[in-house]
Amino acid sequence: MKENKTNSEIMETLVKECEAVLLRYLPDPDNMPQGEAPTATIASAMRYSAMAGGKRLRPLLIARICDMYGGRRELAEPFMGALEMIHTYSLVHDDLPAMDDDDYRRGRKTTHIVYGEGMAVLAGDALLNYAYETAATAFDAAKTPEETRSVVRALRLLLRNAGIFGMVGGQCADLEAENRQAQADAAPISAELLEYIHSHKTACLIDSGFTIGAILAGAPEEDIQRLHRIAYNIGIAFQIQDDILDVIGDSKELGKTVGSDAKDGKSTYVSIHGLDQAANDVRRLTDSALVEFDALSAKDDFLRDLIIRLVSRRK
Ligand code: IPE
Ligand code: IPE
Ligand code: MG
Ligand code: MG
Ligand code: MG
Repeated sequence: MKENKTNSEIMETLVKECEAVLLRYLPDPDNMPQGEAPTATIASAMRYSAMAGGKRLRPLLIARICDMYGGRRELAEPFMGALEMIHTYSLVHDDLPAMDDDDYRRGRKTTHIVYGEGMAVLAGDALLNYAYETAATAFDAAKTPEETRSVVRALRLLLRNAGIFGMVGGQCADLEAENRQAQADAAPISAELLEYIHSHKTACLIDSGFTIGAILAGAPEEDIQRLHRIAYNIGIAFQIQDDILDVIGDSKELGKTVGSDAKDGKSTYVSIHGLDQAANDVRRLTDSALVEFDALSAKDDFLRDLIIRLVSRRK
């Protein structure tokens, strides 16, 4: 796509659009439906974590890839809101004392520090369920049987990528590996298990970002399969970079605690392969993704540049 805006202007607009969509869907604690006033606290906890900032990478991918294939945003918006709600819930639960036990996220105190652990568990549950209620509204926007079929396919993918064979499965494997590491003379986890963890806990939600917009826009099947492969490589590179930033990042810039993995005694890409190989692998995976990206039937300079910029991201 050609337009007269710079990539950073496009990014700014996309982030604003994602935030407007989220705000439109999330329950408003000051304006709860009739008779629902007792749930205002959880509505406010949901907004606290969801509206704290964050890169909005996953929903902006849905939006931009939907545009790239000439799709309708009206179909994509319920999925943009839903995916960011699922991602946000995964962070709220990931930060709990029973998991990574972190106090800062997106430049703020974590949800459990502000609202208490019980309410943070429930805010995560509520975000996940509301995500599905939100995504299901895409059926109302479908105008043709083809669009309805695309919404069904996108919904099934969104659900699978979030669940036991997706992000939750990766988080479980991550937690079990960490618990094993805590035992005396435990062997480091294998490179294969680490790839399983990264591909599930992180690449799966990124996969929803790369493919749902294309599915909704009726992109060619070959492109959708390429986008799955791009997402796999970028998703793993994204988590390796996250592990790198946990060691060399700046907590102010990142908006979250640095050194969390070491504090938890976690095996990460950096602890297993070292910083240099980690950085090389981020570049190698990104290069593979770019080869696939250039073979897509649609072009988008902004997205190509975004993929490149993720390699050197500082937050
Ligand atoms: C953090 O994701 C969790 C990982 C999968 C590494 P992001 O780095 O996308 O977090 P936000 O959305 O910008 O806060
Ligand atoms: C978490 O990985 C990925 C999720 C599914 C939430 P991390 O635990 O490394 O993410 P951060 O560093 O806390 O954002
Ligand atoms: Mg974690
Ligand atoms: Mg964490
Ligand atoms: Mg991390």
